[in-house]
Amino acid sequence: MNPRSVLDDVLAAAPQAIDGAGSLEDLDRVESALLGKSSTIGDVRRSMGGLDSEERPRVGIRLKEVTEQIHTLLAARRSVLEVEDEARRLSDDSIDVTLESYGFPRGSLHLIQQTIDEIVDIFVGLGYLVADGPEAELGWYNFDALNTPPTHPARLESDTMYLDYGDPSDELLLRTQTSPVQVRWMEEHEPPVYVVVPGKVYRQETTDATHLPVFHQIEGLAVDDSIRFSDLKGTLAHFSRQFFGPRTEVRLRPHFFPFTEPSAELDVSCFNCEGGVPGCRVCGGAGWLEMLGCGMVDPNVLEAVGYDPEQLSGFAFGMGVERMAMVRHGINDIRHLVNNDLRFLRQF
Ligand code: DAH
Repeated sequence: MNPRSVLDDVLAAAPQAIDGAGSLEDLDRVESALLGKSSTIGDVRRSMGGLDSEERPRVGIRLKEVTEQIHTLLAARRSVLEVEDEARRLSDDSIDVTLESYGFPRGSLHLIQQTIDEIVDIFVGLGYLVADGPEAELGWYNFDALNTPPTHPARLESDTMYLDYGDPSDELLLRTQTSPVQVRWMEEHEPPVYVVVPGKVYRQETTDATHLPVFHQIEGLAVDDSIRFSDLKGTLAHFSRQFFGPRTEVRLRPHFFPFTEPSAELDVSCFNCEGGVPGCRVCGGAGWLEMLGCGMVDPNVLEAVGYDPEQLSGFAFGMGVERMAMVRHGINDIRHLVNNDLRFLRQF
């Protein structure tokens, strides 16, 4: 058959093959079938040498035309397929934000953290700063600088957990109270001081309904040039009314702490019965709830941090976070707070 009519047949059949390619990969295969080495056009190209000198240029011209037209058809189909391909990839990737998702249950802060936040917020509202300190503490900060002599029973291994680490004379221990942060803060800052310190404390303690070996305290410290006992009482009364309700009364009972003089315990009037209803489930009929320890900072503590007790005075207090939460919510066993039973935790 005449090579030119062979080429015409190829060109006539090309559009159907090209438009039939459903993907870019198909189109590549169609392209090599039409134009590649083993295609009909390839055969014609190879046979050129055997044509006579008259026919050869004609076939050559037709070969070029046919090849160009096939390229044009391929390019047109390729651009259609590329647009389709892009659209498909975009739709495969797209996110339908209206689709329902898996229900991830929403968590909430643990009651202990909620209680810390609430108490700290009340003092921040009075202008206090928030401080923290190490849980592994030196004997100096936990005891000595807080006017607690080496013979004090709290220092016994039966009460305090000592760490077998470093120089034994450092008495590295797990802090039994947040009070050492009073000392650390005053060492690093000039007066006036108004800070609260939430944190974990550790004691050698047998777990029962009111004791855990690890619990939380919030320490408070105010040191300024004219702080009086009435400032302590007024501050704690304000705090108690914010936390337990506006009708709350407070009273201070004499007590002893090594780092305060005088020292006291703060009682708040029972927010449930408001004063001694027999058998009240919150206060048991006493009418008062024991809340925290406090007092005027002992001059020895001020001296230990290099403050002048002749110029400065202050008050301090320390409360147990778990106890605050238990009283407030009528929780009768401290272990509920650490058992991680969701039926308990979800109530708050
Ligand atoms: N640190 C004391 C304790 O753990 C609580 C306390 C009492 C802290 C009186 C104070 C304070 O700052 O003035 O029992």
